[in-house]
Formats: sequence, structure tokens, C-alpha cells
Amino acid sequence: APYMRVPPSLLREKTGRRGKDAWMALGGKVYNITPYATFHPGGVPELMRGAGRDGTELFGEVHPWVNHETMLAACLVGLLVVEPEAGS
Ligand code: HEM
Repeated sequence: APYMRVPPSLLREKTGRRGKDAWMALGGKVYNITPYATFHPGGVPELMRGAGRDGTELFGEVHPWVNHETMLAACLVGLLVVEPEAGS
């Protein structure tokens, strides 16, 4: 497969806390938002509300007109796995 498949457990680890990278799922795609964070017009803390989780709803509530696929193309990590995780 061309893209890494990201299970929700891995996404949850990537919160940007303790110097770690921050990842966010948007529309089924997982992005490393770390390099983008300081450019976010709404500020870093606001952006980080969606870190380590699926930010699709938050994102859509605030700015549904923003094209994250284009803006974050270089930050794409992979696809969020929707099936139950192995072993669960
Ligand atoms: C503003 C991008 C995630 C909250 C903006 C704007 C862009 C942007 C381009 C300016 C929009 C405009 O002026 O028309 C992104 C991207 C995100 C992201 C690429 C994902 C990586 C979030 C999240 C939140 C958020 C998760 C959390 C609630 C805001 C707010 C503003 C804003 C409040 C308004 C700033 C203002 O006009 O004062 N964002 N955003 N964003 N964003 Fe985000």
C-alpha cells in the first residue's frame, strides 16, 4: 500500500506534548501538523485542540472552506485505520 495505515492508538500518542510530534486526522487522512503549527492563523493552542485525535468535526465547525488536503499535502502521514485494531 502506498500509504501508512495509522491505527487510532498511534494517533492518540501524537499530541505534541512533551516535545512529541502532533498528528491530526482530517477526513480519514492523518497529518503531522508539527511543521504547520506556527503558521496556523487561529494560533497554536486552537490548532492543538485537534491534536492526537480526529479533528474533522472541529475543523468543519470553524472553517469548512479551508482546503486541508492541499495545504497539508506535504504533511501527510497516512490513512486512519477504521477497522477494529488487531488484538482488540
Ligand atoms: C483559522 C487552517 C485546524 C481553529 C484558520 C485559517 C486557516 C486554517 C487557513 C484561516 C481561515 C480564514 O481566514 O479564512 C487550519 C488547518 C488545520 C486547522 C490547515 C488543520 C491542520 C484547526 C482546528 C481548530 C482551528 C483543529 C480548532 C478549533 C481555527 C480558528 C481560526 C482558524 C479559531 C480563526 C482565526 C481567526 O480568524 O481569528 N485555520 N486550521 N483550526 N482556525 Fe484553523
